[in-house]
Amino acid sequence: MSKKPVLLSGIKPTGDLHIGNYFGAMRQQVELFKSGKYQCFIMVADYHALNTMQNAEEMHRRTKELVMAYIAIGLDPKDVVLFKQSDVPEHTELAWIFDTITTMPYLMRAHAYKDAVAKNKEINVGTFNYPMLMAADILIYDTSIVPVGADQKQHIEIARDTAQKFNHIFKNDLFTLPKPYIMPDVATVPGIDGKKMSKSYGNVIPLFSSREELTKRVMSIVTDSSGERPENVYKIHKLVRSEQELDSIYSEHKGKYKELKDILADDLNNYLEPMRGRYNKIESEHEIINDILKSGAEKARAVTKEKIRLVKQAIGVL
Ligand code: TYM
Repeated sequence: MSKKPVLLSGIKPTGDLHIGNYFGAMRQQVELFKSGKYQCFIMVADYHALNTMQNAEEMHRRTKELVMAYIAIGLDPKDVVLFKQSDVPEHTELAWIFDTITTMPYLMRAHAYKDAVAKNKEINVGTFNYPMLMAADILIYDTSIVPVGADQKQHIEIARDTAQKFNHIFKNDLFTLPKPYIMPDVATVPGIDGKKMSKSYGNVIPLFSSREELTKRVMSIVTDSSGERPENVYKIHKLVRSEQELDSIYSEHKGKYKELKDILADDLNNYLEPMRGRYNKIESEHEIINDILKSGAEKARAVTKEKIRLVKQAIGVL
């Protein structure tokens, strides 16, 4: 087994991937894989997705799309263990063990739970327990870094707390304390309405949309004429151009929002086009996806089976 520190991240196969997922997390992940400094795991978080997506056809389709997307943005399955959460049952087994050492008031402080309560939603038990399954996802691999967007920060803090709590109760140092890896500039990519870009807010720019769809979304970015420049357009533009370049473009086209949006649509399209091309090509060869996931699950389980054995020894059931 390699001695390199472990990097792990996950993503739910729900909804179309958007540029918030890409610039906020996936792009950094691929750069880190390529650096060769880490032993890398990427997980399709299908059991997490089940909390909100309860449709077998959609689960199959979106799982495949997610793997294709990672390959299109540059993931090489030789460098990364790419697997599905449901193929590695030790994650859910460990989540149960964590449930037993975690209190309800502690989980009630989680942002996702509090948001759902604030919206008067009926919360399923899976959503309430979400942070425990995510802690298990991370801790079972002795993960050091977790590259994600800012919205996942609290989940990683919960994973750290849980590792410390387990180590303390069972008097060992079985779990490594993970750290989030969040790029400050893109920690929260805004959507077309200026709020955080999110599948659940319907304010996204999809990562693999056609040129026409992309233009349509860019044209519907909400602008207001009170400021110096249209901030919502500028903030998205900053993802693909330097601030220096943007400053001259925005002063040259001051007050001309339609022109600025046209330039943004062109720039985004130029940036995304090569990835879209690769994505569409993989789409016609999707048999390889099952092989990638199968081999990923085997490699992941080689780690998790051993770790769960140690955990079982520590808690006294083995
Ligand atoms: P998910 O599927 O909601 O999002 C995947 C990744 O995209 C990032 N992201 C953003 N980053 C910046 N700006 C945005 N507007 C934006 N929208 C999404 C997210 O921060 C995330 O990095 N709980 C996780 C999945 C997960 C996981 C894990 C992650 C399950 N187990 C273990 C890391 C480690 C989630 O729901 O991500």
